[in-house]
Amino acid sequence: MSYIYKVGVVGAGQMGAGIAQTISFAGIPVVLKDVSDVQLKKGLDQIRSVYNLRASKGKMTAEEVELKMQLVTPSLNYSDFSDCDLVIEAVPEDLNLKMSIFTGLKDIIPEHCIVSSNTSSLSISKMATAIKSPKNFIGFHFFYPANVMKLVEIILGLQTDQAVADSIVAFSESIRKIPVKVKECPGFLVNRLLMPYLNEACHLVQEKACTPEKIDEIAVKFGLPMGPFMLVDHLGLDVCHHVSCIMADAYGSRAKPPELISTLIGLKRYGKKSGAGFYVYDGSSKDFSGIYPSENSIKDENQIIERLLYPMVNEAANCIDESIANPSDIDLSLLAGIGFPQAKNGLLRWADQTGLDLIFNKLCEWNNKSGDRFLPSLYLRRLADAGFTGSKAGRGFFDYF
Ligand SMILES: NC(=O)c1ccc[n+]([C@@H]2O[C@H](COP(=O)([O-])OP(=O)(O)OC[C@H]3O[C@@H](n4cnc5c(N)ncnc54)[C@H](O)[C@@H]3O)[C@@H](O)[C@H]2O)c1
Repeated sequence: MSYIYKVGVVGAGQMGAGIAQTISFAGIPVVLKDVSDVQLKKGLDQIRSVYNLRASKGKMTAEEVELKMQLVTPSLNYSDFSDCDLVIEAVPEDLNLKMSIFTGLKDIIPEHCIVSSNTSSLSISKMATAIKSPKNFIGFHFFYPANVMKLVEIILGLQTDQAVADSIVAFSESIRKIPVKVKECPGFLVNRLLMPYLNEACHLVQEKACTPEKIDEIAVKFGLPMGPFMLVDHLGLDVCHHVSCIMADAYGSRAKPPELISTLIGLKRYGKKSGAGFYVYDGSSKDFSGIYPSENSIKDENQIIERLLYPMVNEAANCIDESIANPSDIDLSLLAGIGFPQAKNGLLRWADQTGLDLIFNKLCEWNNKSGDRFLPSLYLRRLADAGFTGSKAGRGFFDYF
């Protein structure tokens, strides 16, 4: 395991600036690289505004703000990376661009330097081939806004060294994040689990089972910080659709993106950033008129929760089966990454309490009726067949003895 005393961040955009702020706040020097002074200034302004906000709340003095800002060195040149122990790449999601950056870095960074990418969807194993020691390459996935969200996914590619992963786990903790190690797969862990949930919310609307507004209300009542439609509006419909298409490519028809999202994208409703998505953001806030059916044919709120969360439990079971992550890390990721309600102890503990036989039978019923997006995971089937049906049985995803 190696210690990280200095970090280079490539890309001073939304994510890169947020990451650099987080690192400097922990007292670690960071070089922030972009392609122009204008972009660098934007990044530095973003960092300063986070510190200024803390100062305005009395959490820092003006002097402390300056000391933290001095830890961030803006740069247009990779030569400033020559003594970095870790590089975090956060440039736009374009494989060729990212590969060219790694290739450009390989003769400058020291031999021991860990190289990482904040990609949301590109292959870690492929990007690793661009550096001299692919064992030193790793996925380091922060969530937006990077200075606020606690979870970081640490994605091991085919060649990533365990010691490198351990160093990044220790580094993450030193910058006050909650790290979860994930084996590489399309969508990694959190986005892979979110997609069936977001897709199912759209299917419910398309089936006239429930309106977006009502679904959001039920999800919030369940304890989530916001409902699926508000979440998609925040993430951006175009971004969600892009990730959905990658998932559908990888996982086949069960991950097919719902038509509703494409319809809204066609109307240039990309979410909050474009002024409208599922909701309208001109002050009137809610306007579904003419776009969605306004029926609520499912009156029982529990049925809505089942439709939203059982497919997510099913995908989590697939992830366990594929050794992407273990049940404790899955629950931790959802608690820290999407704000799954603390009172429910995490998705899989909630599933164990609900009863895995019940969830399995429901998925079978829906699979017969609506097709393979509900096809029960083999792991869930094995648990249910063996009588490991959850907390009442003493064993489900977790042991209860
Ligand atoms: N925004 C999110 O919600 C989010 C969340 C998690 C991960 N990500 C991932 O993080 C990465 C960055 O996303 P973002 O939203 O910060 O993008 P962004 O467009 O806000 O910022 C990208 C920055 O990279 C700079 N850049 C482009 N080419 C460069 C080069 N050759 N060298 C140095 N800098 C260069 C750009 O000038 C820009 O400042 C992407 O891979 C994205 O998928 C984004």
